[in-house]
Order: sequence, then C-alpha cells, then structure tokens
Amino acid sequence: MGTQRSDEQAGGTTGRRALLGAAVLGAGGAVLGLPGAARAADARHGGGRGGGLKSLPVPTVIGHRGASGYRPEHTFGSYELALDLGADIVEAGDLVPTKDGHLVCRHEPEIGGTTDVADHPEFADRKRTKSLDGVPVTGWFTEDFTLAELKTLRATERVPANRPHNTLYDGRWEIPTFEEVLRWQDEQTRKRGKQVWIYPELKHPTYFRKLGLGTEERLARLLRAYGKDRKNSPVIIQSFEPTSIQRMNKLVRNPLAVLLSGADSRPWDFVETGDPRTTADLITPEGLKEIASYAQGIGPTLDLVIPKDSAGRLTEPTTLVRDAHRAGLILHPYTMRNENPFLPAEFRKGGDPDAYGDVFGAFRTYFATGIDGVFTDNPDTGVLAREDFVNG
Ligand code: G3P
Ligand code: CA
Repeated sequence: MGTQRSDEQAGGTTGRRALLGAAVLGAGGAVLGLPGAARAADARHGGGRGGGLKSLPVPTVIGHRGASGYRPEHTFGSYELALDLGADIVEAGDLVPTKDGHLVCRHEPEIGGTTDVADHPEFADRKRTKSLDGVPVTGWFTEDFTLAELKTLRATERVPANRPHNTLYDGRWEIPTFEEVLRWQDEQTRKRGKQVWIYPELKHPTYFRKLGLGTEERLARLLRAYGKDRKNSPVIIQSFEPTSIQRMNKLVRNPLAVLLSGADSRPWDFVETGDPRTTADLITPEGLKEIASYAQGIGPTLDLVIPKDSAGRLTEPTTLVRDAHRAGLILHPYTMRNENPFLPAEFRKGGDPDAYGDVFGAFRTYFATGIDGVFTDNPDTGVLAREDFVNG
C-alpha cells in the first residue's frame, strides 16, 4: 500500500523507460460513449446558468500547473499561456508555505527539481534530507526559505528529458506567491473580459501543520481578503488529504474537491491519524456519499476511471463516474499529457519516445465515460478534443 504520489512520478518521467518498454499495439480506444453523458453533466452543472461551477463548460479543460506542456510549471508564463490556449480553469497553483508563512506556487516543498536553487552557492548549506509523508527526499525545501530568499530563484523545466524545448524558458520567471495569483486572476479577468478561474491545491497539509505552518487557515485568510471565499467564487480548492478539505469546508464556502490517488494508496492524513481506509474505501458509494457531505467534487487519477492492464492498455471503465454522480459529485480526473510516455499504450505513436501520440483518441475515450472535466498539461489540445466530443 502506498501513500499519494504525483502521477508523473508514477507513470511519467521516472517510469518513462519502463513505460516505453511496454507493448505499443496500435491506436484506438475500445470504450464506447455513454448516451447522454454530456447532457447529464450539463444538468449537474446547472446548464451553464447562474455563475459559480454552473458557468463552466463541460467537460471542463483545466490547465495543469498552467500550460506545463509548453512552459516551466507554476510560473506566470505557464498560467498566462494556459488562458491564451483556452483553458477554462488554471491550476494556480499547488500551494506550499515559506518559512515566514507565505503560500507559494510549487508542486512540492522540494524545489531542486523546478528551480535554479542548486546554482546558488549561498543556499548550498540548506540542502537536507527529510521524510515527506514517509518518503525520504533530498534537496531544498520551501519551509527553510523566507519569501525574500525564494524570490531570488528562477523556475526551470521539471522534465527537460521529455520537454527539451521548454528549457528555453529556464530562468525567465520567479516563483509566484498565491497572493500574486489572486491579483493576477483579477487583472486577467479584466483584461480578457471573461472570468478567470483558478484551482489551487493544498500540498502536504499534514506535513506542514506538524511544522507549525498550517496552510488551510492561510489560504482561507487570503481568499477572504480578496473576497473569493464564497460559494460562487471562481476558485476551486483541492487536496489529496480529505481532512484538509474538511477543514477548508469549515473555513470558506468555495467549491471543494478531494483528490484520489491509486486504489491501494492511503491519504497521508489517514496514516497520521490511524484511519485505516484506503482510496478503495473512499470510492465506494458510501465513501463517495461521505465525501459529498463536505465537498462538491473528486479529482481521481485517470486510472480510477479506466484502469490499465499490465501492458499499459486501457481496460473497461469502472463505475466511479456513475457512483460519483449519484452521490452528487463532479469528477475532474488528472492528468492528460500529449507525449507518448504519458498516454495509454494503445495511443502511443511512432518511434520517438517523447513524440506526441494519438492524444485526441485518448481524450475521446476518457470524455466518453462522462467525466466533468480533466487536468491537462496541454490546454489547447484539450479544448480541441472537447470541441470534437461536444460536436461529435
Ligand atoms: O491537482 C490535480 C493533479 O494536479 C494532482 O496531481 O501531483 O499533479 O498535483 P499533481
Ligand atoms: Ca496539483
């Protein structure tokens, strides 16, 4: 049994070679569309009227860490490009705190993989090995830096082996704070004449709380300060730790989503509190009903919607979409990426490991399950795939 892991750790960069060793057996999803799925989703969202979640197109295209397929993740370059490419929501950002309590946008506390911190001799002695949710991690951690110190760093591409073009932008952008994101959201909304949505995620909230850096109260304070703590505010909050979302439910009225990793994984807050349940328990009809008592949605890994076989090919859809909808929850699974290593085996194309595969085929197959939206590193591809699906 594992705790939550990032999906590119599980199936992307680190697992890339293993994935590419699997059989590539030709394109074409075998999963048939569910009649009326799009209509049902539209009804659940309120048919596009009345603001709030109801105003979002379905399936909703969510720019994962911005447009991270094209720019270093969690930078204003990445966030702005996501909007330019048509994302309905920008995942701005994954949130972690600094030593002096500011929330900043990084996917994890360790920043050696996404910044130039290793090139800063003045921070060489900050390198540590820490236990992060039970896993030893070596590098530099946001909680050991003040915001002023972090602002001297620059963002870099996380997966340069897969996305060498993105390294062109290494060093161009600094680490955004969440407060800057809130201001940016308003500026972009004014500039574009269209409401910009964001989808911040609380990262490792139990880990940070134990360090005296509880993140939920800090997020709630900022949302309140900017008048974005309401039911119809264009801010959806997500976390892999259900108790963190329960805490947010007491602090603000925003739409909330519980993220779900592999079926045998166990949220870290459950590990810490001795709650024996795994993700498999959370996605039973009873588990989903309980989630629906404090959240509006779930963000499952795509494998919980359609599992893969040992060759990495899609099998049959689970009942998760149906069960979640019956509980009144929307589903925003993660993460669609255009490159071969990140696609189900039957949608990979050609001999170049990092070339784009038949991602439209993969989108079609996942959309046909009735999901309400999807996180994608490539929002332009997602928007076109949505057009195909809706008009299809
Ligand atoms: O937030 C949805 C998705 O982003 C969860 O995965 O690891 O990319 O934050 P991760
Ligand atoms: Ca995330």
